Amino acid sequence: MTPEERGPQEEPRPILDYQPTSFSQGRMDFTWEELTEEERQRLYALWEAGKGLIGGDPRRRPQADRLPDWGLNRRFFRTLALDDARGWNGARLQADLASERPLEIEIGFGRGDFILDRARRHPERLFIGYEVRTKAARLALQRAERLELENLWISDDDARFSMPRLLPDGRVEMVHILFPDPWWKRQHKVKRLFSPPFVDLLAAKLRPGGILHVKTDVEGYGELIRYLVEHHPGFRAHDPRLAARIGPHLPTHREHWCHEHGLPVWVYYFERRPEP
Ligand SMILES: C[S@@+](CC[C@H](N)C(=O)[O-])C[C@H]1O[C@@H](n2cnc3c(N)ncnc32)[C@H](O)[C@@H]1O
Repeated sequence: MTPEERGPQEEPRPILDYQPTSFSQGRMDFTWEELTEEERQRLYALWEAGKGLIGGDPRRRPQADRLPDWGLNRRFFRTLALDDARGWNGARLQADLASERPLEIEIGFGRGDFILDRARRHPERLFIGYEVRTKAARLALQRAERLELENLWISDDDARFSMPRLLPDGRVEMVHILFPDPWWKRQHKVKRLFSPPFVDLLAAKLRPGGILHVKTDVEGYGELIRYLVEHHPGFRAHDPRLAARIGPHLPTHREHWCHEHGLPVWVYYFERRPEP
């Protein structure tokens, strides 16, 4: 990978110590095949049925329309609990979304190093970070509050469930998906983020000219992502020059670990085409 492909980096100003870490590399024999029409239809059917959502379909959870007490009156949301009148969360989030501020989304922020830093650097922008691990979401919320960030919303929703219900089409300026889980095993493939309906969702929510920014340390998953996105009529081919529009940013925790261990990282930038 060339430095250009890696994207702009600046001397990191970590928000957190990057050590210790428990990452492992996993199996690297990720394989994929071009989708047949049958496979494509199967993936759409699974998506429609809400299969593969991490933690299951939130509509089946008891009290799904209530926020946890710890999340009340903080920049935390669950899409099914936007009307929970015990807190200001839903109303303030909707007001922020109705503003003209450019919106960036990170899906699967893990420890949050990237999005916390990005929200700190760009106070004029609005950010939403999704992380299905509630404990990690809660920690990132605490860190955002410690940094006095008023432009970052955190959710532990599966982004695939939340984004279609929360965001107006064309509202998003950038989507960052950094080191998504590859879900190697055949029976877990349905949990994998990138599939044709997910790329449809990204195309719908990004504004024309908006950017999808992806990094992975799994070469085969990167190839699959590139294949799915570049075969979508809504996106242009990967273009490393788009890195300049994202600008300097900190590595994620996983990325830092890859750099420490001399492991390659594949980076992709796809621009949302204007509507015809
Ligand atoms: C391999 S980790 C990478 C974390 C972080 N981006 C980094 O680079 O250090 C992938 C993260 O995505 C989260 N995740 C997976 N699928 C998700 C989804 N559909 N919506 C939101 N978060 C998701 C996982 O819980 C996990 O924390």
